[in-house]
Amino acid sequence: MSVRKDTIFQQFLAPLFENFLIDGEALKQFKQSINWEKESDRLTNPSVTYPDYYQSQNFHGIKGGYLNPEAPVSYDPITQHVLPPNETIVRQGLIDRIRVKPRRILDLGCGTGSTTLLLKKAFPNAEAIAVDLSPYMLVAAELKAKKAGLDIQFRHSNAEATGFPDQSFDLVTASLLFHETPPEVAQTILNESFRLLRVGGEVIVLDGNQKALRQTEWLTEIFEEPYIKAYAAASVDKWMTKAGFAEVQTDDWWWVHQISRGIKPIVKNTSTSASSQTRVSYNNPTNDHSAGLPAPA
Ligand SMILES: C[S@@+](CC[C@H](N)C(=O)[O-])C[C@H]1O[C@@H](n2cnc3c(N)ncnc32)[C@H](O)[C@@H]1O
Repeated sequence: MSVRKDTIFQQFLAPLFENFLIDGEALKQFKQSINWEKESDRLTNPSVTYPDYYQSQNFHGIKGGYLNPEAPVSYDPITQHVLPPNETIVRQGLIDRIRVKPRRILDLGCGTGSTTLLLKKAFPNAEAIAVDLSPYMLVAAELKAKKAGLDIQFRHSNAEATGFPDQSFDLVTASLLFHETPPEVAQTILNESFRLLRVGGEVIVLDGNQKALRQTEWLTEIFEEPYIKAYAAASVDKWMTKAGFAEVQTDDWWWVHQISRGIKPIVKNTSTSASSQTRVSYNNPTNDHSAGLPAPA
């Protein structure tokens, strides 16, 4: 499959990035400092099969998408410039929405682990596990965690069917994942998140603002993102509600992003009734994070 040349990134931004924003030499050194095949083999789970949507498309103009070692090499240097107003502020928005006091955290589609590292820093006593379909992204994530001295388990797994036991997490997160999956995959991942959470557990999703993407079509043309228009037309709220989550709410976050949150409610009159489930404790139930969001940039 050929790389699209008509995206805003390829036409206008790539020269800016190549000439001014990215240190090409540092990138080359990073790429050469790792034996990507050997390291990715170490992390590869041979039982993982790649869904068609994932292996048949390019993402961000990279042939083969995330199944190419170029993906983790360029991911962080580019991402730091494309999350206005600032990557750390945007990711911190997800952390600030968390109300549970998690003992076990699962970060889905963790990529190079930028959000996972923030989660582990915010909750140092929690067990943090992160999964991704790309062993190459996991190599970079593991290295970052190691450099930061953070104990995080990175697993090669499909977020649609992780294989973890029912009700084994207090917090499940996904950042910048759903604009890269077909809507039915996002729904399956949220169904899986529901299965994995304990009663009272939380799911938090940070991603592109669907309303803003619908109203401003050029935003969907910046990068080669094969599923972003379908994502824009859909609703994370509806997916979460359909998966069974309660108190579902999506807040705008700096106009181009949104943060969605849902909790797993007490289920009555079923074999998985509340009395048979472990409930999670809360960080600060009176802390209303829904108020006081900064005005859109
Ligand atoms: C745009 S990146 C986001 C990475 C990271 N969460 C972040 O915030 O920077 C999307 C990631 O989702 C992963 N991914 C896509 N579909 C997946 C799936 N079904 N299961 C697990 N990971 C998936 C890709 O490999 C890629 O690393």
